[in-house]
Amino acid sequence: TQASILVARAVFPETLDFLRRHFEVENNQADAIWSPAELRQKLQGKAGVLTTGSERIDAALLDACPQLKICANMAVGFNNFDVAAMTARGVLGTNTPDVLTETTADFGFALLMATARRMTESEHFLRAGQWNKWAIDMFAGADVHGSTLGILGMGRIGQGIARRGAHGFGMNVIYHNRSRLSPELEAECKARYVSKDELLQTADHLVLVLPYAAESHHAIGAAELAQMKPTATLVNIARGGIVDDAALAQALRDKRIAAAGLDVFEGEPKVHPDLLALSNVVLTPHIASATIPTRRKMAQLAADNLVGFLAQGQPVTPLNPEVLKKKS
Ligand code: GLV
Ligand code: GLV
Repeated sequence: TQASILVARAVFPETLDFLRRHFEVENNQADAIWSPAELRQKLQGKAGVLTTGSERIDAALLDACPQLKICANMAVGFNNFDVAAMTARGVLGTNTPDVLTETTADFGFALLMATARRMTESEHFLRAGQWNKWAIDMFAGADVHGSTLGILGMGRIGQGIARRGAHGFGMNVIYHNRSRLSPELEAECKARYVSKDELLQTADHLVLVLPYAAESHHAIGAAELAQMKPTATLVNIARGGIVDDAALAQALRDKRIAAAGLDVFEGEPKVHPDLLALSNVVLTPHIASATIPTRRKMAQLAADNLVGFLAQGQPVTPLNPEVLKKKS
C-alpha cells in the first residue's frame, strides 16, 4: 500500500500531481492556517509532510505522530524544526537550499537599494499628493556604488550578494561569518574577512544573511546598532529574531542609523508597531525567494525529498543525515 503524506499548505497543482503518483496525499489547497492541534490531527497516520516555515515541528508534535518519518520544509531556513528532537526520534528533515540562492540574493540587493535610496518613502509622498516642487535635498539618500558592503553570514546567499555588490556596483565587500571562505571563494566574491566589530563599524550597508539559531538570537541589538555609522543602512533578509526589532526601531527613531530594509520580523506575520510608525524603514512580507520559477523549484525539491526518501530511501537535501545511517 502507498504511504500517506500531508501537504500542509496550498502548493502548485503540478506538485500535488507529482506527489499523487507516489503517495496518498491529503492537502490544504484552501490554505487554511491550522492550529498546532489541527496539524497534529491531520498528521495522524502520515509518513511524511511537506511544510513551510509556518508549521512548527517540535518534540510534542513528533511524540503525538509516531508514524511520521520525514518533514520536508519548502524553505532553506528550518528554524521551525526542532532538528535535535527529530533526530532523537529518527525523523528526517529536509530543506530547499541552492534553488533559491540567486533569487534571494536579487531581493537582498533590491531591498538594499530601495532602502538606501528611500524608494518606498518617496513613493508614499508622491501618492499622497505632496509633490508640488523640486528641492535640492528631496529624498536624498546614500550611494550604493563604491560604498562598503558588509555581509553578516556568508553562505550561498551572502556570496550571491557579495558578487552583485563587488562586480556590479564596485563595492568594497567585507564579511563576517563563523568560518572563513576559501581563498578561491573570497577572490571570486572580492570579499575580505573582518571581525564582527569591524564589520559593524565600517559597513555603509550591512546585510544580514545568517541562519537563525540560539547563538544568532539578537545578533544585532542595541549594542551592535550603537557601533554602526549614523549614515548606515541595515538590511535583514535572514530571519526575525536575528535583529532585536524594538532596539532597531529605537535606533531608527534616534537616527542612530539612517535606515533599515526588513523582509523578516520577530513574531511575523506580526510586525513591531514602532517599525510600522517609522518612515526610514522599508518593510516587505518575507518574500525574498518569491518568484514563480523559484517557488516551483522549491516545491519540487521538497516533493523530491519526500519521494526520494519514502520511496527510495534516498533524500536529496537531508538536514540530519545521521537518521539515514541509524536505519541501515
Ligand atoms: C525563506 O525564508 C527560506 O528559508 O527559504
Ligand atoms: C544558507 O544556507 C544560504 O544558502 O545562504
